[in-house]
Amino acid sequence: MAAAGGEKKEERDYAIAAAEAFAADVSRLLAGFRQHLHDRTAHHLGYPYNLNLNLHLSALQAQFHNFCIINLGDPFIESNYGVHSRPLEVAVLDWFARLWDLQKDQYWGYITSCGTEGNLHGLLVGRELFPDGIIYASTESHYSVFKAARMYRVKCVKAPKVTFQKPIGSVSVSGHKFLGCPAPCGVVITRREHVNVLSTDIEYLSSRDATIMGSRNGHAPIFLWYTLNKKGYRGIRKEVQKCLRNAHYLLHHLREVGVSASLNPLSNTVVFERPRDEAFVHRWQLACEGNIAHVVVMPNVTIEKITSFVEDLANNRADWYQDDESVLVPCIAKDIGQENCLCGLHNKKSSRTA
Ligand SMILES: Cc1ncc(COP(=O)(O)O)c(C=O)c1O
Repeated sequence: MAAAGGEKKEERDYAIAAAEAFAADVSRLLAGFRQHLHDRTAHHLGYPYNLNLNLHLSALQAQFHNFCIINLGDPFIESNYGVHSRPLEVAVLDWFARLWDLQKDQYWGYITSCGTEGNLHGLLVGRELFPDGIIYASTESHYSVFKAARMYRVKCVKAPKVTFQKPIGSVSVSGHKFLGCPAPCGVVITRREHVNVLSTDIEYLSSRDATIMGSRNGHAPIFLWYTLNKKGYRGIRKEVQKCLRNAHYLLHHLREVGVSASLNPLSNTVVFERPRDEAFVHRWQLACEGNIAHVVVMPNVTIEKITSFVEDLANNRADWYQDDESVLVPCIAKDIGQENCLCGLHNKKSSRTA
């Protein structure tokens, strides 16, 4: 009996030690992951995400993270699931409808899981209204438009330029980008008269449904609602103005150190020569296409970050181009225009080019 009791104690001690070792492993892993996210956030420049999540959002998160908040079905119709944030969802939709000059009774919409879902929704409404219609998209359109065309098997024609001579049917915007929601989400607004082609009664939900997904993230409307109220239209406009100023600052400093760069009017995306070294691209998380790279100057892209980035780029370029006479500064006149290109051919001060 004594031996059996001893064995049991040993087993218990072993189980406790194993659980403690597991807990220590998990917290070490999570601490490492947190540190990684800190570092990656500090060095992010290439994608249109606002990584500036202030303390107020953490406090908001802390209040609601214990609830499984889900919105189901039509945001304007009560459903049987009670742990939802539909009133805030509708308040956010009203804000955007007002912004885009739509009367309350003329619009329908919902908070999506991302901008792509909004595009999928708008194009689905279009296809239901015009089963034989053609999607005309700019060659510069986001890839989600071409994905939707493939998914819905709708003919898609790429046009160099698309103009809105015709009335707009719907608008989709991402919520985790400029507004700075800590999880992917978006807003889609469409004309109410158009959405009826999709809307169906769902008895199981005790609601109607015209959305793409099923369960919707109920935390997203809380963050969006809070952010819109905290910043207001004026606060957001101020942030936009600051981003535009910082984008000019980045453009100016890139040119100052001899990097070909351009910035379109009213844009916060600076386009410049693709850095030679993929490790550099990776370190700063730059979005690259062919010979060019982008920095999207969002509210978290500060003057300090820009200065440190340009300094890092200038130091690296000195290694890439000056030390090795056989490696020439690339010409990107085709991408950004001769007037913005500082390669040997187009920059009067320099004599070398690829
Ligand atoms: C015009 C446009 N549509 C759709 C998207 C996709 O948005 P999301 O990443 O939120 O799905 C983007 C992303 O940048 C975009 O710029």
